[in-house]
Amino acid sequence: MAEEKSFKYVIVGGGVSAGYAAREFSKQGLKPGELAIISREQVPPYERPALSKGYINLENKATLPGFYVCAGSGGEKQLPQWYKENGIELLLDTEIVKADLAAKTLVTGTGQVFKYQTLLAATGSSVTRLSDFGVQGADAKNIFYLRELGDADELVNAMNAKKNGKAVVVGGGYIGLELGSALKVNNLEVTMVYPEPWCMPRLFTAGIASFYEGYYANKGINIVKGTVAAGFSTNSDGEVTEVKLKDGRTLKADIVIVGVGARPIISLFKGQVEEEKGGLKTDAFFKTSVPDVYAIGDIATFPMKLYNEMRRVEHVDHARKSAEQAVKAIKAAEEGKSIPEYDYLPYFYSRAFDLSWQFYGDNVGETVLFGDNDPKSPKPKFGSYWIKEGKLIGVFLEGGTPEENKAIAKVARVQPSVESLDVLSKKGLSFVSTI
Ligand code: FDA
Ligand code: NAD
Repeated sequence: MAEEKSFKYVIVGGGVSAGYAAREFSKQGLKPGELAIISREQVPPYERPALSKGYINLENKATLPGFYVCAGSGGEKQLPQWYKENGIELLLDTEIVKADLAAKTLVTGTGQVFKYQTLLAATGSSVTRLSDFGVQGADAKNIFYLRELGDADELVNAMNAKKNGKAVVVGGGYIGLELGSALKVNNLEVTMVYPEPWCMPRLFTAGIASFYEGYYANKGINIVKGTVAAGFSTNSDGEVTEVKLKDGRTLKADIVIVGVGARPIISLFKGQVEEEKGGLKTDAFFKTSVPDVYAIGDIATFPMKLYNEMRRVEHVDHARKSAEQAVKAIKAAEEGKSIPEYDYLPYFYSRAFDLSWQFYGDNVGETVLFGDNDPKSPKPKFGSYWIKEGKLIGVFLEGGTPEENKAIAKVARVQPSVESLDVLSKKGLSFVSTI
């Protein structure tokens, strides 16, 4: 029986929020041996967004240690040595299979027991699989999902093995759009398929989506909308050869990439912590319903003060900031102090081909499209405003400069009144400089 180990703080999960929490602990003052990070991944926390961008670019590949946290926010890269120097125990390749929050105990897959005084749950999300929907043949070889480094390595190997082959991307969300571009850049022949009338319907309006769909089509990507993958054909080696669509059509495929959503990993805490909207319910300091248990990153459903609503956010900016907030709150509480409530302004972004967009705020209400959204433009720059109850509450901008992106963030935070949608439409991006 392995010896029991005890820590003042334990972080379960070794992704983005774990890495940023470790940095905040070290900033706030940490004694050697006080903090352990337990991660089932084989490498220290890294900036996950790199996996669908630089890491899978065969010509110009980003590699570790280049994107260990906190590289993504311009901070120091935390190499394995950094954890040692800061007295942080980094337990990799170690999965927690049981959490007993009443006994403050965690158990690993090999039976090792960890005790903690304060726990930070930072287990992130796992991909939704086509087999979850009972899609026939979905476990064929060369059908890939992308969440962790190992998944990206498998994809890179397959792209190298199937040079100039045919790739089908299932899903028109973040993964679909970023991977569609990456596969094309790597010289595969790409078809994207998704059920909705336009891509990224969670965020994009029809006007925004028509630009990206046009741009992708001009790059030679074939887009099939309004249907889903209903099954797969394979060869005698069990490799995928064809995607069978629900509408009866078939698409030849050497590689299939699936991005049909993610689910927060909260099974360890089921029945022990209050849940809301699919995540662990927290307060504005990321404290859950169980004393000394915090939840950060993708799994936290927290009060979004700006909109007076409980929300869960599956994006990297919130993973970083929620981690910092939780650690600051833990440290302040130890000193009998308090800190301000989390007051998050939603920030999402993506990059594909030479394109780059940012979005701040909330995407509800009426919309106003502005700028040049012609996919054939040499330098497209356009965006959309969202207006609710006479206030501008969300802004999307493709091709913005750093200053412009800063300005749209400010507008989404300030929520200026809008008297006329026509005037806003005429002013376009210049409106933000008036705020
Ligand atoms: P994260 O997933 O980073 O980490 C969770 C960790 O917990 C993992 O290491 C996992 O292995 C581990 N774990 C889970 N269960 C465990 C257990 N039982 N025991 C031990 N370890 C366990 N966002 C954005 O804003 N812009 C972007 O461009 C991108 N790009 C992007 C690309 C790709 C490919 C993905 C998959 C995701 C993005 N995202 C993104 C989303 C962003 O990466 C995501 O929101 C954050 O990584 C969430 O951080 P967390 O720490 O919550 O989870
Ligand atoms: P998503 O929710 O963005 O998109 C899922 C898409 O799947 C939907 O838009 C829909 O088109 C499609 N879909 C659903 N069911 C389908 C079916 N049966 N067949 C075909 N298509 C179907 O999820 P994702 O793109 O898989 O991303 C996974 C996670 O990674 C999310 O948490 C996301 O936020 C994160 N991520 C974020 C970024 C970013 O912020 N730039 C980049 C990559 C990944």
